[in-house]
Amino acid sequence: MNSLKPNSQTPSMERPVEEEKSVAPVIRLFHVTKRYGAQTALTDVSLDVRKNEFVFLTGPSGAGKSTLLRLLYMAETASEGQILIEGKNLKRVPRRKIPYLRRTMGIVFQDFKLIPALTAYENVALVLEAAGQQPEYIDKKVRHLLRMVGLEGKERSLPPSLSGGEQQRVAVARAMCGEPRIVLADEPTGSLDTESAEVVLSLLSDFHSRGGTVLVATHDAKLIAQANKRVVHLKGGQITGDGGGVAS
Ligand SMILES: Nc1ncnc2c1ncn2[C@@H]1O[C@H](COP(=O)(O)OP(=O)(O)OP(=O)(O)O)[C@@H](O)[C@H]1O
Ligand SMILES: [Mg+2]
Repeated sequence: MNSLKPNSQTPSMERPVEEEKSVAPVIRLFHVTKRYGAQTALTDVSLDVRKNEFVFLTGPSGAGKSTLLRLLYMAETASEGQILIEGKNLKRVPRRKIPYLRRTMGIVFQDFKLIPALTAYENVALVLEAAGQQPEYIDKKVRHLLRMVGLEGKERSLPPSLSGGEQQRVAVARAMCGEPRIVLADEPTGSLDTESAEVVLSLLSDFHSRGGTVLVATHDAKLIAQANKRVVHLKGGQITGDGGGVAS
């Protein structure tokens, strides 16, 4: 059912959800609930993320952080409520159009999700090849990105021969290569040492300073403290805080 419950805190929610103009937040969740069978992962979550915001999503294990991101990149669909990305209602995106909408997003995972048999260069290039880019463009772009993340000279390395921090930097380069407007990162520093975590955070911050919108799910209180950004707290599938401070 697509109808929305009125919400006194958010006047705009009293209107029906329509395709909205770019002045609207780039990510909007309206009363989103997600169930996996009998298990409820998110309950009635409403959240707006504006263009060029950098938001941390935090909270204890099982709070629903990954679920929220998975809904945004359409690995899952909401059981109730609605989600808009750049004004597009995800419920109305036909399956065949999902890859196009995903290209507006770069996604970074805790476990990198690189293809082990492909080199660092090939892992990044693959995305551009799939998008039908020309070989000269791909070559220039991939070399530029790998340089940007500090991996010049490692283009031909296979992921298993790279450190965790280096693999995550390849994954960040891959997430950026399609020139996304939004980056979603799920525990991007979870398996990294402090120094590598700082490098990954600074790459995400660079993307943000170039006008990108960033949503990072993390447990990493140190990372959050050092970044000084908006922090949304989730607990038991509900938002328990938004703004800053320490997770309860
Ligand atoms: N595919 C699934 N099937 C069933 N239950 C699931 C599934 N994915 C997540 N859940 C449940 O939904 C809840 C939220 O999980 P989620 O992975 O979103 O939490 P999280 O905040 O990312 O936790 P963590 O910090 O451990 O990564 C948990 O209770 C989890 O067991
Ligand atoms: Mg998670």
